[in-house]
Amino acid sequence: MTTLDSFTLLQPYKIAEETFVIPWALEAPPVGHFPMNSMVIRGAEPILVDTGAPAVRAQWLEAAWSVVDPLDVRWIFLTHDDRDHAGNLLAVLAECPNATLLTTWFSIGRMAEEWDTPINRCRFMTDGDTIDAGDRTLVAKRPPLYDNPTTRALFDPKTNVLWAVDTFATNVPAPMPETAAMSPDEFRDGQLFGGRLVSPWVALLDAQKFGTVVTDFQHLNAEVIAGCHCPVLRGPQIPEAYDLLRRLPEVPPWTEFTQADLDQWMAAAESSVPPEQPRPSGT
Ligand SMILES: [Fe+2]
Ligand SMILES: [Fe+2]
Repeated sequence: MTTLDSFTLLQPYKIAEETFVIPWALEAPPVGHFPMNSMVIRGAEPILVDTGAPAVRAQWLEAAWSVVDPLDVRWIFLTHDDRDHAGNLLAVLAECPNATLLTTWFSIGRMAEEWDTPINRCRFMTDGDTIDAGDRTLVAKRPPLYDNPTTRALFDPKTNVLWAVDTFATNVPAPMPETAAMSPDEFRDGQLFGGRLVSPWVALLDAQKFGTVVTDFQHLNAEVIAGCHCPVLRGPQIPEAYDLLRRLPEVPPWTEFTQADLDQWMAAAESSVPPEQPRPSGT
């Protein structure tokens, strides 16, 4: 298993049998970093789970093809059409001619703002649908929190790995492979912050009704939880994350940073830049 010492951004690491996370992270001052991950399941019929962000397209493709031959990729499961998940979709479709795209009608429509998704390569996979990938049957399920209406998580009953998409999003003090490297406070604060950041509408929810949705999702009984914006969760951190998720409707909303914050950051940045030295004459 990848440790903190051996962790490198965009270098895939194994999280379960034939299952790999492709990690990336965005610097997010002043709260640390946000993971920006994708996943590959290299079974009998290899599956890409999301396609990474366009900002690192070349590196993401290289990382993915270090795990699986693009000609072997049989499925591309697109959780939703946000840029951090669908940003390299056309490049992936071009390099994986044998892959079928598992998506939704609304995702295709939303992506039409930017490109035409080849409809003859698509298969609709909505909440509750399954796909037979040869040696495993994967399940699509709407997660409790999301920032896009087309979102479906993906559960692999063969490995008990759950790709939770944007649910369990967290800031991290530094990029890391597993949430086990976070302190208890960092873990709790990160879950409460990330959840409210991704889905501020959680404050509008009836806690009891939301709790039922959370429990239903928890009943997938995932043993490993990966997601786009979280290091991998295992062991007791999984029930703890679900408990924190259940609490979110009762937690006061996160207050956005304001222009005063931005002014302060700009002033701090300016004062940390050394004054320009006068140029020597004659240049
Ligand atoms: Fe999203
Ligand atoms: Fe996301």
